Amino acid sequence: MPDFPNETENHMDLLSDPTLLRQHCQKWHSQGLSVALVPTMGFLHAGHTSLLDHARTRADKLVLSIFVNPTQFGPNEDLDRYPRDLPRDLELARAHGVDLAFTPEPQAMYQPDHATWVDVPELGQGLCGASRPGHFRGVCTVVTKLFGLVRPDVAVFGQKDWQQLAILRRMTRDLDLGVDIVGRPIFREADGLALSSRNVYLTPEERAQAPAIHEGLALVQGAVRAGERDVERLGLMFRAHLAEKLTGASVDYADFVHPVAMSPVACVEAPTLFAVAVFLSRVRLIDNILLEV
Ligand code: PAF
Repeated sequence: MPDFPNETENHMDLLSDPTLLRQHCQKWHSQGLSVALVPTMGFLHAGHTSLLDHARTRADKLVLSIFVNPTQFGPNEDLDRYPRDLPRDLELARAHGVDLAFTPEPQAMYQPDHATWVDVPELGQGLCGASRPGHFRGVCTVVTKLFGLVRPDVAVFGQKDWQQLAILRRMTRDLDLGVDIVGRPIFREADGLALSSRNVYLTPEERAQAPAIHEGLALVQGAVRAGERDVERLGLMFRAHLAEKLTGASVDYADFVHPVAMSPVACVEAPTLFAVAVFLSRVRLIDNILLEV
């Protein structure tokens, strides 16, 4: 895709060359302008645009990156069939006040002899890190690269990927990257299903049953409010609900962890993250709830 300054009514620039992105952002910084970054893999939905809307209020300039990052996909995952719709994404980006959309090709982001990786293994051992080896290493590496190119003052991520958010916060702190990491609430359909680009893979039957995941989370929150503290019993409650309402689904994990350290907890005595991943045939959906005691 060519790099060209786009003189549409919202003056959104479109770049695919990392060097040009760096120069563009450097110019803004030298003018004393602050910059917000929303990193995405595209196929934008209302969850993404809520991140853009928030980011828009946090800085003078707003950068959106759209990049299906190959290094965060395992060999048997959905890299090749990950949904893409760049023209629609750019339309949405313009409508939500993006100043610069960055849409690199993989070859522009990774040299053939790329050899440097960023990893936060301690926080990536459980949950999605256990099911998707190497996933967070790919996420941390690409986000570090985007931070290096954009030098954002603030970067905005969704809380649906809570573990990702916790890892990126820790990485940013540990490496003194100087970026304010902001997490925004999960955006849900009216029936409770968390918005995800992967929801398009669901069959109509699966889509109709998928809100059972959120119902299960709410059920667990209700039980905690009613005094249940034991994570084994709470986990069984969730699994039983899914077995009844989401036929054919299999639970990848349904775990209770400390919301910052991502370490397993045995009892819900303090705010605890209940995070789940569920397979519906070939689609893996994640969701979570911060349990209040
Ligand atoms: O959450 C995502 O969409 C991706 O993991 C991210 C943060 C854009 C990195 O590729």
